[in-house]
Amino acid sequence: MSEQKHIPVLLGETLDAIAPRADGNYLDCTFGGGGHSRAILERAGGNATLSAIDRDPAAVPRTEAMKRDFGERFRFYALPFSRLDEVPDAPFDGVLMDIGVSSFQLDDESRGFSFRKEARADMRMDTNSGCDAAEFLETASRERLVEAVRDYGEELRWRRVVDAIIDARGTGKLSTTTALAALIENAVGKRPGEKIHPATRTFQGVRIAVNDELGELRRALPKAFSALKPGGVLAVISFHSLEDRIVKRFFNEICGRPVDRSDSRPQDERSREAEMLTRKAVRPSEAELAVNPRSRSSRLRAVKKI
Ligand SMILES: C[S@@+](CC[C@H](N)C(=O)[O-])C[C@H]1O[C@@H](n2cnc3c(N)ncnc32)[C@H](O)[C@@H]1O
Repeated sequence: MSEQKHIPVLLGETLDAIAPRADGNYLDCTFGGGGHSRAILERAGGNATLSAIDRDPAAVPRTEAMKRDFGERFRFYALPFSRLDEVPDAPFDGVLMDIGVSSFQLDDESRGFSFRKEARADMRMDTNSGCDAAEFLETASRERLVEAVRDYGEELRWRRVVDAIIDARGTGKLSTTTALAALIENAVGKRPGEKIHPATRTFQGVRIAVNDELGELRRALPKAFSALKPGGVLAVISFHSLEDRIVKRFFNEICGRPVDRSDSRPQDERSREAEMLTRKAVRPSEAELAVNPRSRSSRLRAVKKI
């Protein structure tokens, strides 16, 4: 198992949005390796406290260093963030969600997120519950496969991939990362000039489906906003256009703006509960991209509760 470090993305920009204070109380919904959690507590100083959540049991040992360095100021809850209302430490001055997978997860080949090393096609963030990718591919309806491959994976040749998956059921070719990658490559072929592996998009889509990543986000956003004190900040870093759209619509709604271009409700039917801190999604700088290419698709949006 090769455990790499996870470099926190858009760190300076996130700290600027949250503006941690010495008497503040914060919630990090996506602890991962604790990069953002640590930076929030360090920037805040004083007696600031932070509660962190992660649904990956492998994140738990990484909380030890935080407990050692911050003692009672740091607390951890092993939960999906859609259940953040069960965290007893609300209300918060800032809530952060840095969604998606961590480098720890991507780089641990036994977790099945990567097609480069052979492993069970698992892809679950919470390895203690739910059905893994291999089981999902064997049992999901065609409709759910299309949603995963076409909508979440944004694979243009999704029909071929979905047909190949359904044809391969019962053959064992859906159980391991490498067999699955070979099956997809065979189904879609390699396009001249394409830089990414032909299985990249399908792996991403299946991962999003297996972990119900969009459902988690939709359920968590209103809870995260209600857990804020007046003046508190909700900051969300997303990595996929579908996630960013959910965040943008929710933020527009609570800021009393039309949720999208088709929203023609009269202004007096809207209520303004928050102020937008990011006019447009904040993207990583060239300097960050040079150090951490994995930050490439990250986008930060933040609102302040009125
Ligand atoms: C991108 S990483 C966060 C990295 C972290 N900000 C850092 O600096 O180390 C995302 C983390 O959130 C966790 N996660 C993703 N979705 C989650 C959910 N719905 N509930 C709880 N944890 C989740 C993943 O297990 C992963 O550890």
